[in-house]
Amino acid sequence: MSEQFQELNVADFFYKNKDLVGFDSPHKATYMIVRELVENSLDACDGHKILPDVRVTLYRVEGAGAQERYHVKIVDNGIGVPLEAVPYAFGKVLFGSKYSMRQNRGTFGLGGKMSLLYGQITANSRVLITTSQGGSKVYTFELSTDIRTNTPIIYRREEADNKSHFRGVKIEFDFEGDYGKARDKIIEYFYESAMILPYAQLTFIDPNGTLLFYPRITETMPNPPLETLPHPHGVDLEMLKRMIATNPHTSLLVFLSKNFQRVGERTAKAFLRSNGFDPHAEVSELNTKQLTKLVTALREYSEFLPPDPSCLSPIGEDLLTEGIKRLLSPDHVVVTTRPPRAYEGNPFIVEVGIAYGGAIAPPDKPGKVQLFRFANKIPLLYDEYSDVAMSVIQGINWNQYKVKLDEAPIAFITHVCSTKVPYKTAGKEYVAARPEVERELDLAIKQAARELRVKLSRMEKAAYRERRTEVLKKYLSMMASFSTFLAEKEKEPDISALLMEGGPKRKRIKLKAVEVDPPGGEASEEDVRPASAGSPAGKNREKKSKSKSEGDSGGKKRR
Ligand SMILES: Nc1ncnc2c1ncn2[C@@H]1O[C@H](COP(=O)(O)OP(=O)(O)OP(=O)(O)O)[C@@H](O)[C@H]1O
Ligand SMILES: [Mg+2]
Repeated sequence: MSEQFQELNVADFFYKNKDLVGFDSPHKATYMIVRELVENSLDACDGHKILPDVRVTLYRVEGAGAQERYHVKIVDNGIGVPLEAVPYAFGKVLFGSKYSMRQNRGTFGLGGKMSLLYGQITANSRVLITTSQGGSKVYTFELSTDIRTNTPIIYRREEADNKSHFRGVKIEFDFEGDYGKARDKIIEYFYESAMILPYAQLTFIDPNGTLLFYPRITETMPNPPLETLPHPHGVDLEMLKRMIATNPHTSLLVFLSKNFQRVGERTAKAFLRSNGFDPHAEVSELNTKQLTKLVTALREYSEFLPPDPSCLSPIGEDLLTEGIKRLLSPDHVVVTTRPPRAYEGNPFIVEVGIAYGGAIAPPDKPGKVQLFRFANKIPLLYDEYSDVAMSVIQGINWNQYKVKLDEAPIAFITHVCSTKVPYKTAGKEYVAARPEVERELDLAIKQAARELRVKLSRMEKAAYRERRTEVLKKYLSMMASFSTFLAEKEKEPDISALLMEGGPKRKRIKLKAVEVDPPGGEASEEDVRPASAGSPAGKNREKKSKSKSEGDSGGKKRR
């Protein structure tokens, strides 16, 4: 019996393998739909320096139990979608505007479409899209995807005057899901998004009528990422062949200096010379052996400058600190940003925050770590114990930093931003342990931990001083009256200055021996020596008081 061979197109593949991209159960699908739509909206805003205002409404249409039918509606104020791209952006799997060398939440050209496709498969729903790029017209489309051919089906297309000056995208469709089980994760998603995006305004109305509203707390935004050329360290044979196909009749020298970042004419010349290539050879004339040699040389040449980080958009220390303070209300926050690095030619930056004390509770069981993970400003909520950030934290010897991980009220925040975050799955749930990323996380967390240790030991010292003042308060007055009695005096010395000096701001307390007379007339140096004279500090004081009395030739007599 012979096998039957068939071709599977990409829409069909994802339709049959929904779990590969995180749509593996009604509740996970509910979460993924909200998340993918919000991510697209945020990319359309902060990727273009627009302060995001994203509103999501989810309500129950009918049904009960796990297979409830929901209606989702999302509106944003992003850049909108050009008219001609609408059917493909929302009706053709693996079509998008984010396959470039620029940091984006979106990567695959799939997430939003999977959400719509899920609605189509489970609730036979078409999607309604209204968009404008801020011009005179607003366009509305009613669409679905022909799964067998991966092409959009347009049912309705309307055009209207843009009377309200709308700019952005509005999307609506039905799907079968389970909000009851997805609720916690969705709320957590908005909560963590508000932490990493203090400049965004996020609104969510859930099927129970609960309103979750995070107003923006700042109008300062990170600079949007700029598109860059590929870095030579990240090139492979296929990529090189494609680049040559679009520039076939150029010399190697011009080809390298025009198509790669960090490669000017001088660097290209030096590279070609040191690897034995003819700078004037036409790129289309190179055979596969020469191309393979070129790829290896490009990847290994150490004189190229590191990748240009302008294609990245980290949050920045100030915004991250603000976001952390806003949502975790800790006593202390330390934030660290590492310099840009690259893995396989993809630039990346690691940002880390450690929050301590205040409203942060200690872990409720041993081994639990409070970790908030972000990648390209997306909160990652699933599989945290598989994430590289978690293994780095668990691998650190926290005793060195005076932190008891199992007991301390401590939370970690990690953000990896890159033109290509090394996600382990297409569902974008956790970051793989790429050695370069792992190393940067390790260095960033340790750097933040060192700063935290300094803060904590300062705090410990302040607490010690406070305790000491309390003790002084208690005993000094007793000592004063006892000394007055021994000295057969009536008036007790004034000890208020001593108490103030022993307070939270440390000053050396000078015990002025002259204030309390020893019994029985003239005092010797020995008699007036302060109690702590045995310590080095006491010795200094002793010397000082000696030289003072020696210098007092006028003879202010010690009584
Ligand atoms: N709200 C929106 N505003 C503007 N453009 C959008 C919006 N939603 C989707 N798009 C466009 O549609 C494209 C496809 O979106 P989709 O979510 O399917 O893929 P993606 O975001 O490119 O990648 P990923 O699979 O990682 O989500 C996007 O690349 C973008 O160009
Ligand atoms: Mg997307």
